[in-house]
Amino acid sequence: MIFDSYSNSALQLANRIVMAPMTRCRADHTDAVPNDLVVEYYRQRASAGLIISEGVPVSDRARGYLNTPALWNEAQAAGWKPVTDAVHAAGGKMFAQIWHCGRVAHAALHADGSAPAGASIKPVATQTMIPGPDGKPVSVDCGQPEALSIQEIRGVVTEFAHAAKLAMQAGFDGVEIHGANGYLLDQFRCPAVNNRNDAYGGSLANRYRLLLEVVDAVAAEVAPERIAVRQSPYGLGNGMVADPEPLVTYPWLARELNQRGIGFLHIYCQTADWIHDATHSMMPALRDAFHGALIACGGFKTAAACEEILARGHADLIAIGKPFISNPDLVERLRRDAPLNKWDTATFYARGERGYTDYPTL
Ligand SMILES: Cc1cc2nc3c(=O)[nH]c(=O)nc-3n(C[C@H](O)[C@H](O)[C@H](O)COP(=O)(O)O)c2cc1C
Repeated sequence: MIFDSYSNSALQLANRIVMAPMTRCRADHTDAVPNDLVVEYYRQRASAGLIISEGVPVSDRARGYLNTPALWNEAQAAGWKPVTDAVHAAGGKMFAQIWHCGRVAHAALHADGSAPAGASIKPVATQTMIPGPDGKPVSVDCGQPEALSIQEIRGVVTEFAHAAKLAMQAGFDGVEIHGANGYLLDQFRCPAVNNRNDAYGGSLANRYRLLLEVVDAVAAEVAPERIAVRQSPYGLGNGMVADPEPLVTYPWLARELNQRGIGFLHIYCQTADWIHDATHSMMPALRDAFHGALIACGGFKTAAACEEILARGHADLIAIGKPFISNPDLVERLRRDAPLNKWDTATFYARGERGYTDYPTL
């Protein structure tokens, strides 16, 4: 099953294995344009049925890390075109993951020195990297966020729509809206972070208002069947606090996305436990609510593990992260049940080709 094609009314994927979005920091922070090394990295991995790009910031202020290739201007779109061309030439498909880091950021990462954007002024107790005095990256605490005004929220919606438009121009087959992992859209969902008393805080509908406005604005640029939305239920990364009612929250969103005909709902299990538990209620609840493709992610390393969740009907596609970093030919290795190269965490966010484009194929 995992090696069978998948199609909806807008696109066809050669198999059901998705390369999960992974930030790799190989661009230059100044222009945030993908370079030849980025082209080669994605070209090597094009046998995935679908590649979801690393998180691609939608504006300068959306950036939370050093050297992330972005998508807010024409030069960046032009830099992505050779990437999507290479993936297509190798028979693959690719979505851009459009991203706003929100409070997980630092003013020194923004060209205009603007403070991190927040749902509220609550800071996050996590670190990021900024350029040190000698230009070398140094770890620092994320900065004090400013709560977005209503006008600034409208600006964020426009930025996502503009990035989606540029993604189409750059030859991507669709976009994934990054609504997971404690970044801006997840910060609005999280009642422990979002203490607003306007239309974007309080009730579930209010806390998901920004995400759904982004979805609607993106859907004006990209066919809904080519849109994915990523969520991380139960995820506590980047200062998220346990959702009081996850089995209400996430199915509520799934129904809203379903009504809009969104093609893909991408569920990342950060702890890699509940998603592998056939008796857990979350994936069946999402399945009932959402009739597009459900993507499951977190800890899938064998074809058998992928087949198991597909067979019980709790997912249509499986996204795989770290094994794709170290195995450019992961699909072939899963097919043959061949051993996998180990990934090197030290080079996840390093510079250059080491640990990026130099992993061997079978
Ligand atoms: C180096 C690295 C970078 C990541 N960057 C992103 C990202 O940009 N966007 C995102 O949604 N998830 C990101 N993730 C999470 C992965 O998409 C994936 O959910 C996670 O690695 C779990 O899958 P796995 O167990 O197959 O690795 C990243 C993970 C790693 C290891």
